[in-house]
Amino acid sequence: MKKIVFSGIQPSGTIHLGNYLGALRNWTQMQDDYECIFSVVDLHSITVYQDPKALRRKIIDTAKIILALGIDPKKSTLFVQSDVPAHTQLYWILNTITKVPELELMTQYKDKASKNRSTMAGLLNYPVLMAADVLLYDTDIVPVGEDQRQHLEITRELARRFNDLYGKTFKTPEPLITKFGSKIMALDNPLQKMSKSAPSPYNYIALTDSPEVITDKIKKSVTDSETVIKYDPARKPGVSNLLTILSLVTNRDLKAVEESYFGENYGKLKIDTAQAVISFLSDFQKKFYSLSDDKVLSILKSGSKKINKIAQEKINEVYRKVGLK
Ligand code: TRP
Repeated sequence: MKKIVFSGIQPSGTIHLGNYLGALRNWTQMQDDYECIFSVVDLHSITVYQDPKALRRKIIDTAKIILALGIDPKKSTLFVQSDVPAHTQLYWILNTITKVPELELMTQYKDKASKNRSTMAGLLNYPVLMAADVLLYDTDIVPVGEDQRQHLEITRELARRFNDLYGKTFKTPEPLITKFGSKIMALDNPLQKMSKSAPSPYNYIALTDSPEVITDKIKKSVTDSETVIKYDPARKPGVSNLLTILSLVTNRDLKAVEESYFGENYGKLKIDTAQAVISFLSDFQKKFYSLSDDKVLSILKSGSKKINKIAQEKINEVYRKVGLK
């Protein structure tokens, strides 16, 4: 039996090159060896207010991006979280065994909560919904970025706690944290990660950016006042970021890329990086623009139909264990 992989992506913000190189590329590479389940986690995204019209569009576009990147609905299951009610049902059950202080300890919660005067309960309970996503499917492996490590630890803890209290029901999943490539920095501030929700589009390269926009953004990217091209993230974060991007999109060794720019100037590095990114994204962009909304919606429908059965069985088992049924 193939091991089960589950991961989710929020339909908020703009999906960018960092998301692809850090996480989504892993998804496409895992399809042959694992039973993969991927979800557009729309319920997670509304823990921060989303404009309703824009949200609906983003849900479809996020699925479209995933499909255009090479997730094959014949091999993997793709669905929208809110189409499968068992996620919120299990979420509630798990809430009854989650301690408020352990949620308050989460770094992502603390970061987001510190920016608001009153914090919504949904933001605090975010990791519990994520645990429900993963535990419903007896998931073995969860590919995520480093920033989700804590949430996976809570997921594992909740699985063990439920099993201790009610008898063996859930598998304890393992995180798969992408190392290299998971840290693509922002073009306009290479000390921070490329961000989906950055206020300025010069922060990121959206997967759907046109060649002109990509060139403009990379040309304007922040480097430093020296003239030497060298991979040195601490001293030269901007240049190092461009070298990292160039090596990832051309599939070349970072060291070899660095050496090939010995004696070259920043302008050349930027133009070459832009060209490489444009050709790296060109197949994806062709597919993205040729996929109709109807096609995407029909793939999502069959995904949720298939997955609802599995999820419903699990929630029935949980309800029986707890004594609700
Ligand atoms: N919290 C994840 C993120 O922001 C998204 C997510 C939701 C997820 N549910 C998940 C990832 C389950 C992996 C497994 O990146």
